[in-house]
Amino acid sequence: MRLLAGLDVGTGGVRAVVVDESGRVRAAATASYPLHQPRPGWTEQDPEDWWRGTEVALGRALEAAGGGEVVGLGLAGQMHGAVFLDAADRVLRPALLWNDQRTSAQCRRITELVGERRLLEVAGNPALTGFQAPKILWLRDEEPERFRRLARVLLPKDYVRLRLTGELATDASDASGTLLLDLRRRDWARPILEALEIPVDWLPPVREAPEPAGGVRAVVASSLGLRPGVPVAAGAGDNAAAAVGTGVVEPGRLSCSIGTSGVLFAPTAGLTPDPSGRVHAFCHAVPGAYHLMGVTLSAGGSLRWWRDLLRGAGGAGDYDRLTAAAAEVPVGADGLLFLPYLDGERTPHLDPLARGQFFGLTSRHTHAHLTRAVMEGALFALRDALQAMRSLGLEPAEVRATGGGSRHPLWLRLEADVLGLPVLRPLVDEGAAYGAALLAGVAAGVYRDLGEACSLVALRPEVVEPDPARVAAYERLHGLYRELYPATAGLAHRLASPIAGEGPAPPA
Ligand code: XUL
Repeated sequence: MRLLAGLDVGTGGVRAVVVDESGRVRAAATASYPLHQPRPGWTEQDPEDWWRGTEVALGRALEAAGGGEVVGLGLAGQMHGAVFLDAADRVLRPALLWNDQRTSAQCRRITELVGERRLLEVAGNPALTGFQAPKILWLRDEEPERFRRLARVLLPKDYVRLRLTGELATDASDASGTLLLDLRRRDWARPILEALEIPVDWLPPVREAPEPAGGVRAVVASSLGLRPGVPVAAGAGDNAAAAVGTGVVEPGRLSCSIGTSGVLFAPTAGLTPDPSGRVHAFCHAVPGAYHLMGVTLSAGGSLRWWRDLLRGAGGAGDYDRLTAAAAEVPVGADGLLFLPYLDGERTPHLDPLARGQFFGLTSRHTHAHLTRAVMEGALFALRDALQAMRSLGLEPAEVRATGGGSRHPLWLRLEADVLGLPVLRPLVDEGAAYGAALLAGVAAGVYRDLGEACSLVALRPEVVEPDPARVAAYERLHGLYRELYPATAGLAHRLASPIAGEGPAPPA
């Protein structure tokens, strides 16, 4: 039996799945690693942890699959991260991640050097703190010693590819999140690179997601339990890979992913950047295709923060217990709102200094109310993204749930009621890792093309329908939620400004 492996190099850990050619999951495994926050607003990971996580998760999944030959491997991963390497491919410092907010000054400089209009026209997006290009400028400004030794910059999954295959490559969907890609040509944008003085040979060649890009090296093959030379697909950024894994490959479809971030993902007919930049325009993993994407930085991340807080205090610390208690609390958590901007925010505010808050606390509120408010707040942020997409003419009729959140009934219920759309679930809940395995199938020639691979994505028969009374209640509450950010943003900025170096430090 021919098998395919898919890897998702996530923020919480590496997920590995092994599927057979009919698309059935034979085995899956996760290996977790830490997220480092050396300063407020900074998020980093050690690329070595991604590689060790890959070895562990893939090894466990292959062992559990119990026989069969892996004929293709696909890579997906957290987007936007910057892995800095020297000429001998040694890692120069911990990688800066997608939710890192240290680069406001560099974003302003990129906008000046390239021009706002040209950025939007060529790269499809404004300069945003989480994207890769401003991180390269940050290294130049802040760590010149390391910058002098810089020879390559890779995205997270592409670093894992380098270790796995020895090959340098990326794909158009993930490369879109650098701000250095010409989205129309689906190749590096020379004029932007020149304006920013970034040599093109620091960046890997760009391929389409289902194309082969490297084969497993003999030195790592035996320890991983793979045959040397197994083709590795170019793969995709995690959201585009999850769209493949949930069959969201045609205009009109929409997926909602709740992982650390929360993402609404909509394929579009052609490249249609958002003139206000609130919603990202990127290449899809489908060759030649595009999509729009609204991203809230801390959706599942807010719930994890809250869970860990309670756990640390010796309280009710697992997701099942927390969400079961929250499900008993009325809509609106008895007058409590939560802004999930724990790590700043992208869609719709594009504000690295946005901050989280509970609003409306009373002494009657319990941890269950706060849990519910956290989850509702994450969905309100996604509803903002839906409104931004609607203002660009998208009118989805339903949403496909993916990410860790798709496994919890309360998340699904809230997706239906807050977004006001029926929620469908794919039979296979493996999102990005599953999409990566399907891409591997195309790269290995098991499937003719991505259309054939995606025809294996099946949906569960049950649909979570929005409840009209709750939809109306959430509509009203969302109105209040929307007023909270503009009413408090100035204060949040003043409170946070010393962190981002944008204002005077408070008196000692
Ligand atoms: C997308 C984004 C996140 C990461 C998380 O723009 O930043 O969804 O890809 O893994």
